[in-house]
This record gives sequence, structure tokens and C-alpha cells, in this order.
Amino acid sequence: MEQILISDASEILIGRGFPIPFLPVRETRSSVAVLAQPGASAAAERVVTAIGTDEMPPSLRIVPDGDSVKTLGAAGETYEWLADLGIGRHDTIIGIGGGAVTDFAGFIAGTWLRGVEVVYLATTLLGAVDAAVGGKTGLNLRGKNLVGLFRHPSRVVIDVDELEQLPPHLLREGFAEAIKAGFIGDPDLVDLFDRDGVEADLEQVVIRAVRVKAEVVAADFRESGRRGHLNYGHTIGHGVEMAAGISHGEAVAIGMVAAAAVSEARCGFQGAAKQLDLLESLGLPVVSPNVDPDEVRRLIAFDKKRDAGGLRMALLEDFGRVRLEYVSDGDLEVGLAAIGLA
Ligand SMILES: NC(=O)c1ccc[n+]([C@@H]2O[C@H](COP(=O)([O-])OP(=O)(O)OC[C@H]3O[C@@H](n4cnc5c(N)ncnc54)[C@H](O)[C@@H]3O)[C@@H](O)[C@H]2O)c1
Ligand SMILES: [Zn+2]
Repeated sequence: MEQILISDASEILIGRGFPIPFLPVRETRSSVAVLAQPGASAAAERVVTAIGTDEMPPSLRIVPDGDSVKTLGAAGETYEWLADLGIGRHDTIIGIGGGAVTDFAGFIAGTWLRGVEVVYLATTLLGAVDAAVGGKTGLNLRGKNLVGLFRHPSRVVIDVDELEQLPPHLLREGFAEAIKAGFIGDPDLVDLFDRDGVEADLEQVVIRAVRVKAEVVAADFRESGRRGHLNYGHTIGHGVEMAAGISHGEAVAIGMVAAAAVSEARCGFQGAAKQLDLLESLGLPVVSPNVDPDEVRRLIAFDKKRDAGGLRMALLEDFGRVRLEYVSDGDLEVGLAAIGLA
């Protein structure tokens, strides 16, 4: 089992098969509340059985699937449930499932009684390599993650055997963020995908991708600088995601193609063709669906308003070497052209 430390109080455990230890030792704990997604209900039952004792039977709540749980309404109902259970300051909340439920459980735990312990079991690949790592939690209002807090879980558990059972579309979602981690921080992970494609050893993929994110986050918890490296592929990708209504992983893949073209123009990046082949070999799209380029430009301009000094993009000098650069409209056009949105 691999242990990756985020801080003294937060660790990520990556292994294969139960029992991976779930609960950090804590003498004063008297109750555990488990929040799980429908898609992760089997995993949740296993956890409840593994950690339950006569003195402390965990309470399980299956929450709405996907982002429909990330609402104030679902939060309100969950707080009432925690009140009924009498979950106290020394108790623990466990979130089981993909990124939607870990974002939700983290928010609930961070706000219940001004903060109780939270543990995640990440059961999607995207959740494992991205959402469960880094301490961002959130609910959606009119936009995504408009309400939230930064708070690390005390433990994240990732069972690679479980991830291997995921359907192909959920694996692809995670591959997009995992290979992004390689592009920005681990050339060996890029080589691993280059050699083995979708057959790449998933345990190595997860360990390496989590290490990249953990290291960036440890250096920059609140997103002032280096954390922006994680946005590689997300500036233009996010515009395409909103305009085309495609999945986040697909959009990030397309966004990385665009970002590689801008990187080539601005930083002399030589790896654009290799990156394109790699993304295709993972079954990820590399050109935008047919959408109005002006709509994508508008959506990118809207994101830009949040960054006072102009639009900054994470660009590559080489695999593993990132620069955060202000980009011009002309740079954006280079990126848009590379994904068929001239
Ligand atoms: N906090 C962060 O830093 C961060 C980073 C990236 C994404 N996110 C958030 O993560 C969410 C997306 O995460 P996601 O892609 O994991 O989606 P998700 O949480 O919506 O899960 C996708 C689907 O997988 C199902 N599922 C879960 N475990 C399964 C299993 N073992 N087998 C089969 N199906 C299973 C779920 O029921 C769901 O239908 C979004 O809300 C996004 O905002 C957060
Ligand atoms: Zn992403």
C-alpha cells in the first residue's frame, strides 16, 4: 500500500482490495455517518461491514447521484439527518463515490458543527486522481462550486481493484486528468501511457497522478500560483465543455490539444504531436464538436473576468515543465484553430 502525505493531518492511501484501513485511529469517536452515491452503494456496504462494531454501527445514507447532490437542498436534508443521528464534534463523516460525493461530503463535514473529521473512499478514477485530492469542496448554485471551502480530508482511500471495474467512459474521464498530471509534472507517467496506453498499470497511474497533484497542492494550497498548473487544458477546455455540453474529461482532452498549440507558439513546446497521439490512444477526443466558436470565445472571456490581470494559461515548455502566462486574443485563436474552431 502506498501512502502519500498531504500534511501531518491528511494522507492518501492507495492499495488493492479491502481491507484498506478506513478510519484514522481516534479514541473519542462515537459515531460514523456514511454518505454514498448510488453507483458506489456496493462499496459503501463493504465499508459499513468492515468498520462497523456493536458499539458503533455506522449510519449509511445514499445521496442523489452525480452533481444533483451538490445543492443547498441536499445539504439541508443531510444536516437534518446528522442532527437526528447526533453526530458530534469527535465523530466522522465518510464520503464514498466519485468527485460529486467527495465534494459534497467535504463541504458537509467542513460546515457541520464548524468542522468534523471527513474521510473519502474515491471510487471513480477522476475522483481518485483529482477531486479527492487537494482539499477543495463545493456545492453548485447558478454556477459550479460557487459555495465551498478549502479543507483536507484526514484520509483518502483508493482501492485500485475497485477502479479497474469501472465502465470505459468513467475510466476515460479519469485518464484525461491522469495524463494531464503527467504532462504537467511527471514525464515518466507520460512514458507509461506512451508504452501501454489503456493497459497501463492503473496502480502506477493513480500513484503517480496523485503525487503530482499532492505536490502542487502542498506548495500552493489556496491557488495563488502553482496550483494554476493544474488548469492545463482547462481554459479553452472549459469553454468547449460549456458550449458543447460534453463531459469534463473529454473537454480537458480537447483543451490540452489547444493548450499544446499555444505552448508551441509561445514557449517552443515540441510535444504537441506526441500529446495528440497519446490522447487518441486513450480514446479521448482531440477536436471540438461542432459548436459556434464565438460562443466558446464568450465563455472563455467570462472566465477571464475572474482573473483581474487578464487571462492566464498554463503552458508547457516540455513535458513536466509548466509556465503560467498571460495570453492574448491572438494566442487563443491559435488554440481554437488547433481544435477546429477557427
Ligand atoms: N474538488 C476538486 O478539486 C474537484 C476536481 C475535479 C472534479 N471535481 C468534481 O467532481 C465531480 C465529478 O466527479 P466524477 O467524474 O467522479 O463524477 P461523479 O461523482 O458524478 O460520478 C460519476 C458516476 O459514477 C458513478 N460511480 C461512482 N463509483 C462508481 C463505481 N465504483 N462503479 C460504477 N459507477 C460508479 C456515480 O454514481 C456517478 O453516476 C464534479 O462535481 C466536479 O465538480 C472536484
Ligand atoms: Zn479538470
